[in-house]
Amino acid sequence: MTPYRDLISNKHKLSPVWPHFTQIEVEKASNCYLYDTKGREYIDFTSGIGVANIGHNHPRVVTAIQAQAEKLIHGQATIVYHQPMLKLVEKLARVLPTSLDNFFFTNSGSEAVESAIKLARHATGKPNIIAFQGGYHGRTVGAMTLTTAKTIYRSNYQPLMPGVHIAPFPYSFRYKNMSPEMLSKWCIHELQHLLKTQTSPEETAAMIIEPVLGEGGYVVPPKHFLANLREICSQKGILLIFDEIQTGFGRTGELFGYEHFNVKPDILLIAKGLASGMPLSGLVANHKLMEHWKAGSHGGTYGGNALACAASIETLRVIHDESLLDNARKSGHHLISRLQSLSEDYSCIGEVRGLGLMVGCEFIDDKKLTRSSIATKIRKYCLDKGLILLTCGTEDHVIRWVPPLTVTIDQLEQALAIFEDALFEVTNREELYDSHS
Ligand SMILES: Cc1ncc(COP(=O)(O)O)c(C=O)c1O
Repeated sequence: MTPYRDLISNKHKLSPVWPHFTQIEVEKASNCYLYDTKGREYIDFTSGIGVANIGHNHPRVVTAIQAQAEKLIHGQATIVYHQPMLKLVEKLARVLPTSLDNFFFTNSGSEAVESAIKLARHATGKPNIIAFQGGYHGRTVGAMTLTTAKTIYRSNYQPLMPGVHIAPFPYSFRYKNMSPEMLSKWCIHELQHLLKTQTSPEETAAMIIEPVLGEGGYVVPPKHFLANLREICSQKGILLIFDEIQTGFGRTGELFGYEHFNVKPDILLIAKGLASGMPLSGLVANHKLMEHWKAGSHGGTYGGNALACAASIETLRVIHDESLLDNARKSGHHLISRLQSLSEDYSCIGEVRGLGLMVGCEFIDDKKLTRSSIATKIRKYCLDKGLILLTCGTEDHVIRWVPPLTVTIDQLEQALAIFEDALFEVTNREELYDSHS
């Protein structure tokens, strides 16, 4: 076998389009820890961007994948039915509203978004889609067109998909001159205006929204915003799509983000935490809507792969058996209140917000540093000390906390101690890490 040090030189053969936030050469992972090839341990509070919700390599998921691999790896969905997919459908149906009873599986989040666009257009016969400012829906041409979290995701890829219109999202911290309720009303007003001036309801197939903005900055909308969208969609015959690719599977302390708002979508998009790292995603809708999707008009080779479905079934069992929703609520509450008390000592923290373990800490410019530079320096300081955190937001000015739902208070405290040191060092000795930023 080629010695590992020789393999590592191959990293230069990987496309530079991957930005690489760390240079960690990971060898293995367990729960919230990653281990590099030299045996150094890192606390991973990214969960691989909200994927390892039950922790990396949960032993029960590993066993389920191994057992399934012995039996069947690939059962092509247009050729055969297989047990893991049928069982997964049964399991998901038990935790979803009865209106969401029909499933289509894909491999990545973007592919699920792309499928939803196709279903919405096909089923309604209408061309246009409304998405919301700051949303992130993926990298394929359709999903990218719906994405307005940052220009880097869209630049130099024009022409984008036609038929997409962008409405404002109630990002309260950006519009501090309005109360969250006023802002929510203003956004709804603008949306109504858009339906009168750019795309009439007769031309609008669907609206797509993340119940909590992910890449856009971990922003929770005011309470009634999603309910108002639901009302408009129902009145005007427009489909409402919730992209729960990041908010799903316990991330917000409920199985799905929409549960916080008591609003149900017509189409639900799932991925990431669904299968603990196996590539599985999908969309769920009512069978009456799905009946309009003509057989053969959409598909894919790998969608609903047997290993991925087996991993997903076990993931759902673990979430239940280990009471992980409860833990996400409790530990999320602890994390938010600890970060809020840090914000009293550090004026560069503008806002701490979130639901469950989807927690954002937004920075503001201080006398010497920009908000983006503060967040980046803090991220890098934490990484040096063995804590992996990611940023999000238009200027990467929000540190996002995405620990696994299994996280303990001790683990959170360990990470918070590093974060607090980072805040102190970066705001008092800003020359620190200048060479890296
Ligand atoms: C809300 C949301 N939608 C869609 C996607 C795209 O998923 P993928 O990267 O698996 O294509 C992501 C990925 O981060 C996401 O967070």
